[in-house]
Amino acid sequence: MTSTTTAIINLDLAGPTISRHVYGQFAEHLGRCIYGGFWVGEDSEVPNVRGIRSDVVEALRAIRIPNLRWPGGCFADDYHWRDGIGPRDQRPRMVNSHWGDVVEDNSFGTHEFMDLCEMLDADPYISGNVGSGTVQEMSDWVEYLTRGDDSPMAALRRENGRDEPWKVPFWGLGNEAWGCGGHMRIETFAALARQYATYARNHGDNKLYRVAAGADTADYHWTETLMRSFGDLAADADGAAHPYQALSLHYYTMSGDWADKGAATSFTEDEWYLTLSRAHRMRELLSRHSTVMDRYDPHRKVGLVVDEWGTWWNVEEGTNPGFLYQQNTLRDALVASTHFDAFHAHADRVVMTNIAQTVNVLQAMILTDPDTNALVLTPTYHVFAMNTGHQDAQALDVHLRDVPTVASDGRELPLVSASASTKDDGALISLSNLSTDEDRTVQLDLRGRSVAGFTAQILSAGELSAHNTPEAPAAVAPADHAGVRATERGLEVDLPAHSYVTVSLRLV
Ligand code: AHR
Repeated sequence: MTSTTTAIINLDLAGPTISRHVYGQFAEHLGRCIYGGFWVGEDSEVPNVRGIRSDVVEALRAIRIPNLRWPGGCFADDYHWRDGIGPRDQRPRMVNSHWGDVVEDNSFGTHEFMDLCEMLDADPYISGNVGSGTVQEMSDWVEYLTRGDDSPMAALRRENGRDEPWKVPFWGLGNEAWGCGGHMRIETFAALARQYATYARNHGDNKLYRVAAGADTADYHWTETLMRSFGDLAADADGAAHPYQALSLHYYTMSGDWADKGAATSFTEDEWYLTLSRAHRMRELLSRHSTVMDRYDPHRKVGLVVDEWGTWWNVEEGTNPGFLYQQNTLRDALVASTHFDAFHAHADRVVMTNIAQTVNVLQAMILTDPDTNALVLTPTYHVFAMNTGHQDAQALDVHLRDVPTVASDGRELPLVSASASTKDDGALISLSNLSTDEDRTVQLDLRGRSVAGFTAQILSAGELSAHNTPEAPAAVAPADHAGVRATERGLEVDLPAHSYVTVSLRLV
């Protein structure tokens, strides 16, 4: 017999807006993310526009990626932007010591990145170098990008072929300052963040939203110290005196530990639940970091930016261990869907997130074959596609009843995860069944508005470890879901074991 869960949603009680930037992406100079992923060069046989792969751009435009973080990650605190401008054949080389110890030729630099963002119609989120850079270097980069007159940096940009300044809304102040970004103590970094933020200036009408490198996982002391360094937030009504506007948080999901993270495609049922339980931990982390932030910032002016999240598995056999190339299964899709439920539930604090990373690295949207150049969309890509309707919609609370749990990793993992949002005359409901073997029916008790019509999609597969390859690119792909029926109270949704379902409502 199929068990039933009830989900009560007041369709007329719209909560905070889920920023589209929650669906952000991350592209680092790491492995084949930039080179071979986004960038193939103008002379490549792979169809490209000015060196950027056309099929990658097309796939990402389809999921409406709102922003792209670049150039790292750890790489950002080693990166000196002047090496990546001017004629490509004259750019200095450097060693990418974090990622594979390979030589970086800087052929993808500032102009190429901004060109990519324009092609994607995505906002740039640039991570400035605090670890090994200087305040002057960061200040100059901001001026180079965003200043319109004949200032020295604007003139240099023009010499390199770009007349108009770009718009750069998001600016990172360092990355993982507690680790690869300088192994700093929080007291040191808190002072540096204020200093660097001061000189990352607004030019003309470009207003930077500055994000200070935040905590690792459950380091609440890091968050607390940064928040304390803001001074009296309550007295600063419009936030004008804040040196920066947000803090970040990094959290990765794995079934093992850092020495042996677990395999992407071969795992036991226990590892399935362990992984999803650790993904579920994101809810606790957001609650606890928000509680710390609330103490100093009760009106929630300071944003929390989860600018690295996702699964991190052992690399695929035969690949460079420094390139972090991994496959992506139905399990990764459910890690993504449950993260989004957590982000939606914290829409009033979480202003942006960036999954790590977009192409060929960690929990990627897209995998490209280094030999044939074939492109594969991952199960995680499809979750982003099914969720586009949540972007800039208003969050709706979902009250779940009769949700079974499984004990894993010291917590009770609820086996149904859900979130919902509403925009104009529509609503989108997301439902994940994390059970390996138990189908469920979800009774949607929909209140406050009437449903005039609905459509539904399902993402699932016969095997828990199903994944897409060039030979089987649609082993995990969304399909129309016929298992939704109107009831007196709303809708009844079939939610098969290990599946993700979205239901779009037309409301009157
Ligand atoms: O995303 C891969 C790496 O993970 C990033 O460079 C770093 O910030 C984090 O440790």
